Amino acid sequence: MTQSNRILLPLAGVIGWPISHSRSPYLHEYWLNHYNLSGAYVALPVEGSDLKQVLETLPKCGFVGANVTIPHKESAFLLADQATETAKRLQAANTLYFQDGLITADNTDGFGFTENIHQAIPDYDWTQPALVVGAGGASRAIVDALLHKGAKTVYLTNRTFERCKKLASDFGNPENLILLDWSDKENVNPELGLIVNTTSLGMAGAAPTLEFAFDRMHSTCIVTDVVYTPLETEFLKNAKHHGLKTIDGLGMLLHQARPGFQKWFGAGFDPVVDEELRSRVLA
Ligand code: ATR
Repeated sequence: MTQSNRILLPLAGVIGWPISHSRSPYLHEYWLNHYNLSGAYVALPVEGSDLKQVLETLPKCGFVGANVTIPHKESAFLLADQATETAKRLQAANTLYFQDGLITADNTDGFGFTENIHQAIPDYDWTQPALVVGAGGASRAIVDALLHKGAKTVYLTNRTFERCKKLASDFGNPENLILLDWSDKENVNPELGLIVNTTSLGMAGAAPTLEFAFDRMHSTCIVTDVVYTPLETEFLKNAKHHGLKTIDGLGMLLHQARPGFQKWFGAGFDPVVDEELRSRVLA
């Protein structure tokens, strides 16, 4: 590939293992077509033992960056030359920029989460207390985003309590991050503004559903789920049944992709997340 070809056809992709399930290629292809931009975005199946070599090679063959997904988010962060403050706080990357021979690690998962809520409820008051269920990778990004948005209190619960403690300690044990035993999660402050499931509970074909007694919650509480297959999880159905507003998890995936697209292909503009994109990615 010549230098001029590289400029004409910027390449990006999503690195993971396995990767065939990824919807990211559909969403970037949609935006590339919609905005009539040159570029291509592909799924890149990469095993852990090959990650270093792949990251060294991609920039040399026209790639301007990549998304990174399970199980490589932590390794990609460590292999990068530099990182944004968010990626440093999370010690994990979901977006890489290749520029001037350097790899920059970013993490836009928390941005995707807050933008998804913001799109549905533009005047959501981020200072309200929130409950985060689960303490895995997705939870880290969401807890970090909530704390940085100014949540007065973030309650965190996980089946394995040790992971709550580890997450809190990695964040410097902030006073407003309150850890709850799994069995106590429903005894939380009923004035919550937001409840989010970050566990895999409710995912199609996998785990059982996440049970939650929503009847104690204030009617203004918003309920969201990072699981988006199915789009309306039993957890969200249950919340809706109790009259609470729900927001599905697909938007988090769509919004987290915006910063990467903007830098790689978009000549600096912010691509739009709308119904057409949602239905294209779902189809
Ligand atoms: P991710 O990076 O997507 O968050 P993860 O790190 O594997 O994935 O975390 C999965 C989350 O789902 C964890 O909070 C996990 O709880 P444990 O830490 O106790 O494993 C949670 N989870 C998975 N299956 C669960 C189940 N059957 N009951 C309760 N929590 C479950």
